[in-house]
Amino acid sequence: MNRVLAKRELAPLVTLLEVEAPRIQRRWKAGQFIIIRPLETSERIPLTIVDSNAERQSITMVIQAIGKTTKEAVSLEPEALMCDLVGPLGEPATMSKGKNVVCMAGGVGVAELLPVAKAFHQAGNRVTALCGARSENYRILDAELKEAVDELHWATDDGSFGFHGNVVQLLNSLAGPDTFQEGHVIGPIPMMKAAAEATRGWGLKLHASLNPVMIDGTGMCGGCRVTVGHEVKFACVDGPEFDAHLVDFDELTRRNRAYREMEQESLNHKCR
Ligand code: FES
Repeated sequence: MNRVLAKRELAPLVTLLEVEAPRIQRRWKAGQFIIIRPLETSERIPLTIVDSNAERQSITMVIQAIGKTTKEAVSLEPEALMCDLVGPLGEPATMSKGKNVVCMAGGVGVAELLPVAKAFHQAGNRVTALCGARSENYRILDAELKEAVDELHWATDDGSFGFHGNVVQLLNSLAGPDTFQEGHVIGPIPMMKAAAEATRGWGLKLHASLNPVMIDGTGMCGGCRVTVGHEVKFACVDGPEFDAHLVDFDELTRRNRAYREMEQESLNHKCR
């Protein structure tokens, strides 16, 4: 079991949890994830590792409480024990050196982008982060991102802060075919798909960090199956990062929707 050390609300429904996890703290790399089961009765859900603290032997995760299990996770208070936590899982994010890199994220994906953007910067790249939020109040980890990258731009759906529009529109307003050599995108599937379409033909190598349904996280259950360049891959062991221009995002959307009714039923049951 893993002890919760700290909890902080970053935005409406978005909570940061710091959890004691000495072995994961020592080994994890940017882009890797964990699978947690907050309570004994919870489902298992994957979460990107956002940060770690060697002194406190802890890791940080950011959770958007929209389903039964995510609500159970954010109900844990400091000193509570998380039932189980497995990781680090998946392959680390691809890193290059000396390039102009664009890192794009929307919603809670902004938290997941932070370690990758930081790693790109530490590896000697010039990093521009383009982050999206519903409105100014939903922006998260702004100070941490500012410190981690060379340039940070926000887009908000209602125009209350930064660019009025979404991240892909912001990208199109700032960049063209030769602006960036490499990119990373994480967030809602429609956004990742739009980013891939917008940059197709730019000569930009774009990595997408995918978020399929996951159960075991070890390549055994097949739940996280995705198609990339007409090949079947398992996001938990082959990914979660893949070439965005080769991912079948429509299939990923269909597979992620497959359990929506059951998820809603489970949430309704919890709220009763
Ligand atoms: Fe089961 Fe990837 S989560 S195979």
